[in-house]
Amino acid sequence: MLLHVTLTVVWTFTFTQGFGHTSNILDSTYIAAVYEHRVILNPDPLTPLSRSNALRHMQRNLDIYEEQAALAAQQGAHILVFPEDGLHGFNFSRSSISGYLETIPDPEEEHWNPCTEHSRFNNTEVLRQLSCMARRHNLYVVANMADLQPCPLMPDPATSCPSDGHWQFNTNVVFRSDGLLVARYHKHNLYFEGAFDTPPQPEIVTFDTPFAGRFGLITCFDILFHEPTITLLERGVRQLIFPTAWMNQLPLLDTIQFQRAVSLGANATLLAANVRNDRLIMTGSGIYTPLTASYHHAQRGDPEEGRLIVARIPVLDPGVAAEGSGVKRGATDFGFCQQDSCASSPPSSSTFTSSMMHDPFTFVLLNDTNGDLEVCDGSFCCRLQFQGFPQRGSKELYALGAFAGTHTVNGRYAVQVCAVVRCAGLEASSCGQEVEEAATKLTFTLEGRFGTKYVYPSVLVSGYILEQPEHMVKTGDGKVTMMHSNMAGGLVTACLYGRVYHLDNQ
Ligand SMILES: *[C@@H]1O[C@H](CO)[C@@H](O)[C@H](O)[C@H]1NC(C)=O
Ligand SMILES: *[C@@H]1O[C@H](CO)[C@@H](O)[C@H](O)[C@H]1NC(C)=O
Ligand SMILES: *[C@@H]1O[C@H](CO)[C@@H](O)[C@H](O)[C@H]1NC(C)=O
Ligand SMILES: *[C@@H]1O[C@H](CO)[C@@H](O)[C@H](O)[C@H]1NC(C)=O
Repeated sequence: MLLHVTLTVVWTFTFTQGFGHTSNILDSTYIAAVYEHRVILNPDPLTPLSRSNALRHMQRNLDIYEEQAALAAQQGAHILVFPEDGLHGFNFSRSSISGYLETIPDPEEEHWNPCTEHSRFNNTEVLRQLSCMARRHNLYVVANMADLQPCPLMPDPATSCPSDGHWQFNTNVVFRSDGLLVARYHKHNLYFEGAFDTPPQPEIVTFDTPFAGRFGLITCFDILFHEPTITLLERGVRQLIFPTAWMNQLPLLDTIQFQRAVSLGANATLLAANVRNDRLIMTGSGIYTPLTASYHHAQRGDPEEGRLIVARIPVLDPGVAAEGSGVKRGATDFGFCQQDSCASSPPSSSTFTSSMMHDPFTFVLLNDTNGDLEVCDGSFCCRLQFQGFPQRGSKELYALGAFAGTHTVNGRYAVQVCAVVRCAGLEASSCGQEVEEAATKLTFTLEGRFGTKYVYPSVLVSGYILEQPEHMVKTGDGKVTMMHSNMAGGLVTACLYGRVYHLDNQ
């Protein structure tokens, strides 16, 4: 006889934004800092620079890093994270980036402090400065730079050594507070980066700290993939460091929205540092734990400048953290959707298809006669129960959308998504387009039955503000329910973003 056990996991969130997180008794905390850097770019990245000119360019960014490291240290930071591409910039070719490359020794093999032993390796000026920065300010420093590694020219397909006999990697480096190089991670999931190679194997890189235990390293696009992100989590890593250069994409993949979603969905800490560049729509950085979010997202018209974010947060490493690091167990009622009544929602008639993030979502409009909607894409169904719509005087149109399939534009990955979005206009065809502002505050329960356990929840409201879903329930049969009420801002997107990693290669 097969006994089927359905596990129910309940989260109840206490949401505090910024520095006021004092409601939980935490035995063990530390201070994290991330810096959103307005990177000074090389205006002509396709023309190769001499080493000295490349160093002169990077020095301008390093000078800003140095100032920010001092400010972070003044606020007691134990660790400071800088963004992807923050020293060299972007849009290089494989050859034009040559002046920016350093050969970064493997910290597993070399015990090297570039600040105190700078002459041990040639051509390592950037490593030396970052190391001295960590040492001078007595904090861990994480930065992203370009690494050159010689590889065996023997044409062994397994090593994928390029014909010029070396790899070029998009690389995160980590320095201990005395300057020792403690970790090196080569980005696995490149995003239109002609200057860089994909490492022959995904690298699962962690480092241990005395203040918070273990951290894992990922870079930008990596956050959407099984390797290395899920492998790190499966190995018990609960604190991820995420340098990124992320071009925002509403309604589902805005920076802070997805950073928050991953931290909640993975029940992990995420230290996210983005680049600031208005032309490329890059902004949005933060320090996220399952209970707190301290973040910055520039608004249209804000001066284009850097931003340091510092927050005291709980240690989440299970090897270090004290019992019950703050997550409170809540009651099992979740709004107006009692678990068993959820199965029989009325079929919704007037569905339509509209493109959202280049994927054909099936949508149904929210209207005043119906507070309980279901929409399906094939056998994948999403249900929304809502109150408080439409609001008097408001002319905003909302829709519930479902999509199950493989996203194929600018990257290929399988998803199952349930999303409530504000449509850009008053036509159904505008549902799924980008909107930044909204006035409608809903009380809702959003639910889907997912073919994956990796579901990332988020609530984004007007003006790039995050709200913490009040209540989340996950059952063993794949059903995920998010309940939210008392909204402070108008709803832009409420989303359950499921990643179906096992279908990525089909
Ligand atoms: C630089 O790269 C970004 C995407 O990474 C692209 O949108 C932009 O057009 C590129 N700029 C140039 C000058 O090639
Ligand atoms: C560094 O470069 C100099 C000059 O090219 C060379 O003499 C020296 O051997 C090199 N040192 C190392 C450690 O490679
Ligand atoms: C999240 O992690 C905490 C420990 O940090 C644990 O007590 C809690 O049960 C986890 N929540 C979920 C939903 O897994
Ligand atoms: C509201 O939506 C339901 C289900 O989609 C539909 O049958 C009904 O006609 C809609 N009512 C109005 C007033 O648009």
